[in-house]
Amino acid sequence: MQYSQVSPFPSDFLWGASTSAYQVEGGWDADGKGPSVMDVRERHSDDIADFTVAADHYHHYREDVALFAELGLTAYRFSVSWSRVLPDGDGEPNPAGVAFYHNLIDELVAHGIEPILTMYHFDLPDALDQRGGWNNRDTIDAFVAYARLLFEEYGSKVSTWLTINEQNMMILHSQALGSAGRNGGDMGVMYQQNHHMAVAQAKAMTLCHEILPEAKIGPAPNIVSVYPASPDPADIVAADDWDAVRNLLYLDLAVRGSYHPTAWAYLTERGWTPDILDGDLDTLAAGRPDFIAFNYYSTQTVGAPRGDGADLSQRGEDQQIVRGEVGLYRAVKNELLDTNAFGWEIDPVGMRTTLRRIWDRYRLPLIITENGLGAVDELVDGRIHDDYRIDYLRRHIEQIQWAISDGVEVFGYCPWTAIDIVSTHQGFKKRYGFIYVDRGEDDLRELARVKKDSFFWYQIVISSQGSKLS
Ligand code: BG6
Repeated sequence: MQYSQVSPFPSDFLWGASTSAYQVEGGWDADGKGPSVMDVRERHSDDIADFTVAADHYHHYREDVALFAELGLTAYRFSVSWSRVLPDGDGEPNPAGVAFYHNLIDELVAHGIEPILTMYHFDLPDALDQRGGWNNRDTIDAFVAYARLLFEEYGSKVSTWLTINEQNMMILHSQALGSAGRNGGDMGVMYQQNHHMAVAQAKAMTLCHEILPEAKIGPAPNIVSVYPASPDPADIVAADDWDAVRNLLYLDLAVRGSYHPTAWAYLTERGWTPDILDGDLDTLAAGRPDFIAFNYYSTQTVGAPRGDGADLSQRGEDQQIVRGEVGLYRAVKNELLDTNAFGWEIDPVGMRTTLRRIWDRYRLPLIITENGLGAVDELVDGRIHDDYRIDYLRRHIEQIQWAISDGVEVFGYCPWTAIDIVSTHQGFKKRYGFIYVDRGEDDLRELARVKKDSFFWYQIVISSQGSKLS
């Protein structure tokens, strides 16, 4: 529907921005931190920059938070590095690591920025991975103990919690995202891991409500509308199937505490159903989120499978590029959409449909915890003219406003990223931030912070509460 006038953003709407620990912090072994699976993972050929220094936020966080405040952020979504606070994944905490997040949170609160804390963003402690990672049910207990530590340490200052970032991408793209090197390519193993993560997440949500009755907690999967390639009913079935396997399996587990029937039928057909122990289904049903956070970059378009290699896209392991699966769906390029420099389709209207679909199904308040444009920014005479990023973000914010006008409850927007970080695939050359970090792939230079044009634009968006987008 088109409206003669769109609804304004709510006055308490959270205008945020996001990062994750292993991509922004650096200090990978500083002050007692243990390695994570992201620190030790095998590098991809085009992934030159490693995470050892990243944006060196670990040593620059005061300067960075001051810049976030100047930007006008009312929320900052960051993740805690599990192995910084618990070097072995469980057992004794690392006091310096625990102190780092106290300092960061205190700094945010002092600047009037609401901390949104992600508990786990791809960086499982390597010590746990050595013991089988998410294959091992003990990792559920380790996660719950870690969650307890976080709630007890930071619960008086943090009221918005995210459990697991993009559990669905970790399962579907495990080799790229370091969640679980131990699957040997076996999806049956991955869905067992998925089950363990879902149980761990449910237990953490229940624990949060016990320890912090005022706090709110939710999952943070990557959710996007899936479009059928044509009105052919077979394409529509394929789109529904892929929606069930990519999106609804994870949302239903987190929100309804049960397996989506079509996704379960798929797991059964493939022989990939997980072992479910007595009590697991009760645990899942008891874990209730207060909201749904989700990451959105683009929609996916799919057709009915043809049962041969043509079902598969040749475009690799990138988590945002539709891949295809023999017998399930065929990857289709949506010719109506532009793509960015890295082949990701750009679909602002898909933001609106995705918000509407999630709201329709679950009726929980929604927050977008990632959305942004990865680009090769150029520093010219001390400025970065990233009008392409402004355009991308503006068009997505407009669609959020349309969704709000449609009656969807959206309480925040945290684009990816507050400051440049190391991307998951393309090192430091692919940037997302409002704040440029002056470093190359190998040449760290001074790591100086430079405000991009998008910084000044977003500043106005925030101060006008979304009423001035151009
Ligand atoms: C999301 C992840 O999948 O996409 C982020 O949660 C990631 O960690 C983001 O950085 C963008 O992907 P990329 O590959 O461009 O870094």
